[in-house]
Amino acid sequence: MNPSDLIEGGAAALEARFGKAFPKDVIVLGSGLGRFADTVTDAVRVAYADIPGFSRSTVVGHSGNLIVGKAAGVPVAVMQGRIHAFEGHPPQAIVAPIRILRRLGVERLILTNASGGLKPHMVPGTLMLIEDHINFSGFNPLVGPNDERIGPRFPDMTDAYDPKLRALLTQAAREASVEVKSGIYMFALGPNFETAAEIRMYAALGADAVGMSTVPECLVARHCGMKVAGISVVTNLATGIATRPLSHEETLAEAAKAAEKLASLLQRFVQLL
Ligand code: HPA
Repeated sequence: MNPSDLIEGGAAALEARFGKAFPKDVIVLGSGLGRFADTVTDAVRVAYADIPGFSRSTVVGHSGNLIVGKAAGVPVAVMQGRIHAFEGHPPQAIVAPIRILRRLGVERLILTNASGGLKPHMVPGTLMLIEDHINFSGFNPLVGPNDERIGPRFPDMTDAYDPKLRALLTQAAREASVEVKSGIYMFALGPNFETAAEIRMYAALGADAVGMSTVPECLVARHCGMKVAGISVVTNLATGIATRPLSHEETLAEAAKAAEKLASLLQRFVQLL
């Protein structure tokens, strides 16, 4: 299917299900952070397999459901499970869901992820509001022919993470009594965890946390005119700072521990939008 047919097909399928009144806010849940989805009320769950353009993640800890309902009484959609560049899907798999949601009128994309802390104070359990990112991966889902109807060839990345949304996240954190830090997210392609030398370099380049997601979605969302917010849940100190080898099991376990705090923050945040 050509890319615009895929977007039309996906949008038509979701419109058939939800009508024209699709929520304006979509929250993407990262590895092990599915807890927030359980707090959604009046939830209608659609498997990615039933939506053209939505591919299923192959990563443990990522189910593949779009959930539409209410969080703290506010209409939201939740993507439970995401596609990563390292899975080897074509870039369309990352691009299509976001453009489909944009076609349905979604205005804000709230991205969450699990990451490794690059600074000693970025300890496991830290919630880091993403201030900005560094794309150090060599991967960019916008590579290829550009459809000017969707967005410009050379999209601007000033305020990639919307300052107003960041301010509201800070306010929500205060009101929900959830401690947050702020920092720069480094996108590494993965799937291996980094070497200690890479981690020293990323820290020297000004990043505070490293992970394997979020940046591709941010690029696609900014390109098509959505506002983006990002919250990174630090699940471990990065290689060389950590005192033991890293594992995906540890990521999932630490993410699950922090998921409750993240859910409280998001509940308050959506009320402020
Ligand atoms: N590196 C990259 N991605 C991650 C990490 C890490 O240390 N922890 C969780 N996701």
